[in-house]
Amino acid sequence: AVERTLSIIKPDAVAKNVIGEIYARFEKAGLKVIAARMIHLSRNDAEGFYAVHKTRPFFKDLVDFMITGPVMVTVLEGESAILKNRELMGATDPKKADKGTIRADFAQSIDANAVHGSDAPETAKVEIGYFFPEHQVYSR
Ligand code: CMP
Repeated sequence: AVERTLSIIKPDAVAKNVIGEIYARFEKAGLKVIAARMIHLSRNDAEGFYAVHKTRPFFKDLVDFMITGPVMVTVLEGESAILKNRELMGATDPKKADKGTIRADFAQSIDANAVHGSDAPETAKVEIGYFFPEHQVYSR
């Protein structure tokens, strides 16, 4: 089925100037950018976005990292977009990510791991809505 997923290019990858290289991987895999903007998240924004992880031991470090610089929030659309994006990203921990994945190629550590992607249809819907009202998502 055609799905939508939320991608975030994290501060480390934006700082490395690889936004275009990451977008090219999405496009080559048949995913379309249907909404996008750059934003420097506030602490409140990052805590709200990652609210599901609030009780996890890594929550503070994750939020601290996500507010170190601007990110690209992007909605991707395509056939099996959620799984496709997760395959392109590779494992959360870049040390475990398969060769040729975004995290293997661009990430440094489990927090500075270049990209975020929604993990399921329900979370994708919530995550997309966190950043984009429906009228700013240009399904095509
Ligand atoms: P992301 O897909 O953005 O979702 C939550 C983030 O928490 C994850 O990527 C990692 O960057 C970060 N994180 C740090 N430690 C862990 C961990 N042990 N397990 C999962 N995510 C972690």
